[in-house]
Amino acid sequence: MHIDIRSLALPERWDEQTPTGDSFRAAAAHAARVNDERFGIGVAALTLEERLAAWQSSEAELHVRRLAFDGAAIVGAASVWLPMLESLENGDHGVAVEASVPALARRAVIEALTDDAERIAAEHGRTTLMGGSPAAANGAVMAATGFGGVDPDEPEAAALLARGYALEQVYRFSLADVRALGAASPGLDERWADASARARDAGYDTIAWSGETPAEYRPAMRTLHEAMSTDAPIGGLALEPETWSDERLAEFERQKTAGGRTMRTVVARHIASGELAGFTSLFVGAEIGAPGGDVARQHDTLVRRDHRGHALGMLLKLANLVQLRDHHPMHPRVSTMNAEENRHMLAVNEATGFEAVAYEAVWQRKDA
Ligand SMILES: CC(C)(COP(=O)(O)OP(=O)(O)OC[C@H]1O[C@@H](n2cnc3c(N)ncnc32)[C@H](O)[C@@H]1OP(=O)(O)O)[C@@H](O)C(=O)NCCC(=O)NCCS
Repeated sequence: MHIDIRSLALPERWDEQTPTGDSFRAAAAHAARVNDERFGIGVAALTLEERLAAWQSSEAELHVRRLAFDGAAIVGAASVWLPMLESLENGDHGVAVEASVPALARRAVIEALTDDAERIAAEHGRTTLMGGSPAAANGAVMAATGFGGVDPDEPEAAALLARGYALEQVYRFSLADVRALGAASPGLDERWADASARARDAGYDTIAWSGETPAEYRPAMRTLHEAMSTDAPIGGLALEPETWSDERLAEFERQKTAGGRTMRTVVARHIASGELAGFTSLFVGAEIGAPGGDVARQHDTLVRRDHRGHALGMLLKLANLVQLRDHHPMHPRVSTMNAEENRHMLAVNEATGFEAVAYEAVWQRKDA
């Protein structure tokens, strides 16, 4: 096999009838096959329009997509993400090779794409490198956090181990189904009513909206996003606290919804002060029908430190699931990713029916 690695150029539109458009659609089909293998058929599916939006760079992050070819066939791909506003030493990469590629060839493609990604990160002056690989709840190599591990013989993990990366964290990818929650006893409505009553007694209510953050809540939402960058567990990863300007919030929301996805947000409000105590958000894609395509994506969930201990995390989660059920009947399932050591968040998720379907490792190597 002769491996040739090239950058993917993105077309203006997903359906553009040009060689650039054709390459993009072939790359998207490859990404979809890899995701089907890792997470289940259609579970992480994006429409081509959503995929095009997801691969764009933003002010906050430069994204380089690399493709490995054997002749005309795509045999692997990698993304290199370069933060542009903070964590400027970091270069994060992820390699994607179909499990169906024969073992020897698979290893060769992974090695070549990993070298290539490291070269790109170095060209941008990045000295702290991060990489990903499939993982598990346990493994012969455990994460530095003590939660989750990997099989060192798994080819993506092996490539990183051989290059001196340390396994910092393992993330659990899980799914919940609002139909099952509705059918359980107590059902979703009953639990939501109980959680709302308890929150009201503690001095909190919720506000929900769809689409961009309304003007009156934007300053508070910026603070909540900043808290997300410091409060969610990151193990030993060298990630700096983020600063969210109004422009950053606007660009984030624009990019996340650019491909036609709907963003739903629920906030918990401290009634007496009017302060926003926490938030959760969800992205719902276009209705693409079976197979898959029925899975919405949970994004951030956070309760500010001074408001914890009132089960507002559970309140927000239940509110979001009710929103999903009521407004998006074609999307009864939700996926989420949580650090395996994040017991507080996992406790809420497990209690709302989330079950693990995959694990992803985050590795790090500091060169300076
Ligand atoms: C997950 C989270 C929303 C839960 O907050 P919550 O709903 O207020 O939690 P609970 O009301 O269930 O808290 C139960 C107890 O655990 C404590 N607790 C909750 N989260 C805690 C945390 N991250 N660290 C330490 N203690 C925590 C509470 O103070 C409370 O203690 P108490 O019983 O002594 O009063 C919150 O921990 C959080 O915002 N974490 C940071 C953001 C994050 O990790 N998000 C998920 C990323 S995927």
